[in-house]
Amino acid sequence: MSTQFIISVRGLLKSFKMGDSEVSVLKGIDLDIPHGEMLSIVGASGVGKSTLLHVIGALDKPTSGQVLYDGRDIFGMPDKELASFRNRNIGFVFQFHHLLPEFSALENVLIPSMIGGIDPKAARLRAEALLDEVGLSGRLMHRPGELSGGEQQRVAIARALMSEPKVILADEPTGNLDTHTAQSVHELLRKLNREKGLTSIIVTHNEKLAGMADRTIHMVDGIIYRP
Ligand SMILES: Nc1ncnc2c1ncn2[C@@H]1O[C@H](COP(=O)(O)OP(=O)(O)OP(=O)(O)O)[C@@H](O)[C@H]1O
Ligand SMILES: [Mg+2]
Repeated sequence: MSTQFIISVRGLLKSFKMGDSEVSVLKGIDLDIPHGEMLSIVGASGVGKSTLLHVIGALDKPTSGQVLYDGRDIFGMPDKELASFRNRNIGFVFQFHHLLPEFSALENVLIPSMIGGIDPKAARLRAEALLDEVGLSGRLMHRPGELSGGEQQRVAIARALMSEPKVILADEPTGNLDTHTAQSVHELLRKLNREKGLTSIIVTHNEKLAGMADRTIHMVDGIIYRP
């Protein structure tokens, strides 16, 4: 089914049980994201940005409400189907890149495809092409410890793109980087969004970098602030 919005969030509530009490974190989120949009999410610490991103990325389930991809409620899928949907369609980039320190940049990008079971030769060519695309063609054999912070995050972005996802979800991808390096990583995300038509949702504390997106939403205490 094709709809105007690649992702729609409807009446999303999320709370966590803490002993006898419940902490309500998402308090009614409604959001429509058109195909190919680059959306940034800003807001103070603790307002629920990561929680929202995790639920949109099917890494966590909502307490109630829906997340629709092309009109289909993903939490209506059996767990196994949901995991495979996530692996095929969604790429994740986190603040701490979680690269494997003992493997090269190339191997780090290749590792997800080993799970996906694609032809090793094709996978290698694709990984090399992606590393070239993120500006690292001269760093294929470097291990994470031999790369700068920005280069490490570029490897993580190439790794996220390996499965040809339709959507990229990034949680403070530049939170760990100096201003200049952060700017260049945001420019890379912007370029990938434009060139590949990748729908991108980026959580960031940096309002200037957030401003590079097509649209910015502000979260306040578990809801989207709409002035
Ligand atoms: N697994 C959990 N169990 C209990 N409470 C949680 C859990 N995950 C998040 N929370 C609570 O939910 C609230 C929102 O957390 P979240 O990580 O979404 O905030 P955030 O907006 O991403 O903040 P930051 O900018 O600091 O990353 C916090 O008060 C946090 O303590
Ligand atoms: Mg967070």
